[in-house]
Amino acid sequence: MADRHMLYISMQIESGCHMDCIHIHGGKPLEGEAAVQGSKNGALVLVTATVLIKGQTVLYNCPQITDMDEMLGLLKTLGCRVKREGVAVIIDASSLHTSDCPAKQVRAMRSSVMLLGPLLGRCGSVSMERPGGCMIGKRPVDIHETALTCMGVRFRKDEKQILAETEGLKGAEICLPFPSVGATENVLMAAVLAEGTTVLYNAAQEPEITQLCHFLNEAGAKITGVGTNCLTISGVVKLQPVTFTVMPDRIVAGTYLLAGAATRGIVTVKNAPVRQLTSLLDVLRKMGAVVRYEENAVVLDAARAGKPVPYLRTAVYPGFPTDLQSMLAAVLTRAEGSSAIEETIFEDRFKIVRELQKMGADLKVENNRKLRIYGVTKLYPARLTACELRGGAALVVAALMAEGESKITGCDYIRRGYEDICRDLRLLGADVEEKRE
Ligand code: UD1
Repeated sequence: MADRHMLYISMQIESGCHMDCIHIHGGKPLEGEAAVQGSKNGALVLVTATVLIKGQTVLYNCPQITDMDEMLGLLKTLGCRVKREGVAVIIDASSLHTSDCPAKQVRAMRSSVMLLGPLLGRCGSVSMERPGGCMIGKRPVDIHETALTCMGVRFRKDEKQILAETEGLKGAEICLPFPSVGATENVLMAAVLAEGTTVLYNAAQEPEITQLCHFLNEAGAKITGVGTNCLTISGVVKLQPVTFTVMPDRIVAGTYLLAGAATRGIVTVKNAPVRQLTSLLDVLRKMGAVVRYEENAVVLDAARAGKPVPYLRTAVYPGFPTDLQSMLAAVLTRAEGSSAIEETIFEDRFKIVRELQKMGADLKVENNRKLRIYGVTKLYPARLTACELRGGAALVVAALMAEGESKITGCDYIRRGYEDICRDLRLLGADVEEKRE
C-alpha cells in the first residue's frame, strides 16, 4: 500500500493537482441521526465466497465503496457474471474460467488474498501477486499458507507471487498460531468443498466470520461451532445459490459514535449492530457518555464524555477492534487527562500521530506499539493528509473537534470503506463537504 500511496500522489500531480478534499468546519457538538451502510469486510468475503457457487447468488445491502468495485471487477476478470443494482449485487460464478488473478487488480486491494481458499476449492489452483506491506505494517500470509498446506495445497516458493495448487483439498485438523481473520476465512472457504472433515482450532471469532459461516451453511455447507473459536467443517460436493443480506458495518457505526463523542454531541446511529459494539460502548461509558438503545438504533449522549482512558489495548473480537483505534486516539487528544493505547494487532498503526500533532495534539508513540496521549483543551484546524482508510476517518473525527476550517486530502482512502462519510456526517449535524481543488 505504500506503493499505492506514492502512485496516488503522483497521479494527483500529473492530473494538475486536482485533489478531492474534505472541508470541515469543526468545533460544534454534533446532533442528528444517520444510518449505517452494509459491512465492508463482511460483504467482501461473501463476494469471494460466491466463487464456490455455480449459479446466481444475490447479496443485498452491499456497501457502495471502492473496495467493493475493485473486488467485483476482479471477479469479472476471472469470468464471473456480475450485476450491480445499488446495494444489491448479483454474481454468477458458473462461467469462471481462470484462477490467475491479474497483478494490477490484486495490488489495488489487500482483501484479494481472500480469494485463495475459494479459488483452490473451485479450480484447484491459484496465482496472485503476494500482498506487500502496507501503511499499517507488514501483512504476511504465512498463517494462510501453513493452514492450507495441511489441507493438501502445495505452495511454490516465490517471493513475488502466491502460486498454489492441489490435486484435491482434504479435510484436516488445523490449529492457527494466531486467530487471523483472513486465514480463518480462507480455511473455511477451502474446507466447505474439501473431501472429509476439517477442524479449525483457534479460529478468529469476528462477526464477519460468523456471517460467512451462516452464508455458507445457507448455501448447503456443513459448518458447526459457528461463533466459537473451534469450527468443524464437513465437506460437501456442491453449494447452492443463495440470497443473503449483508450485516451493517460495525466499524462505520463505531466511527459515527466516536464522531459524536469527539464533539461531545448527541448522535443517533440507526441500524447499528449494537451487540458487536460492546467493547466500544463500554469505553464510551467509562469516558462519561450515556448510551441508550432505541428500536434498531443506538443513541449516544456525549455531553460529559471527557474522561481519559488510562489504558486500552486493541484485541481480537470481542476485544476493542484495531480498526477503531485511530478514531479513539483522535477523540482522546481532547480528554481531560492522559490516556494510553496499546496496538496489539498491527505493528505500525499510529501513522496519524504526525497529522494530529499538526493540530496541536500532544501525543507520542513508544516502540511503535504504544501511544501516550496527553489531553489538550483545544485542537487547531489544519491541512491534513489521509494515508490509509481508518486513519483517514480518524482525521475527519479530529477535524470535527477543531474550531475553524480543516482540509483533508487523500479522500480515496476513505472511500475504500465509507460510502459517503460527508453525507453521513452532515446528517449528524456536521459542517462538512467534499470539494475538488
Ligand atoms: C482483517 C480485516 C481488517 C482488520 C483485521 C483485524 C478484512 C478485509 N480486513 O484483516 O480490517 O483490521 O482483520 O481485525 O476483513 N498475520 C500474520 N500472518 C498471516 C496473517 C496475519 O502474521 O498469515 C498478522 C497480520 O500481519 C496482522 C495480524 O496477524 O498483524 C492480524 O491479521 P488478520 O487477522 O489476518 O487480519 P486481516 O484478515 O488481514
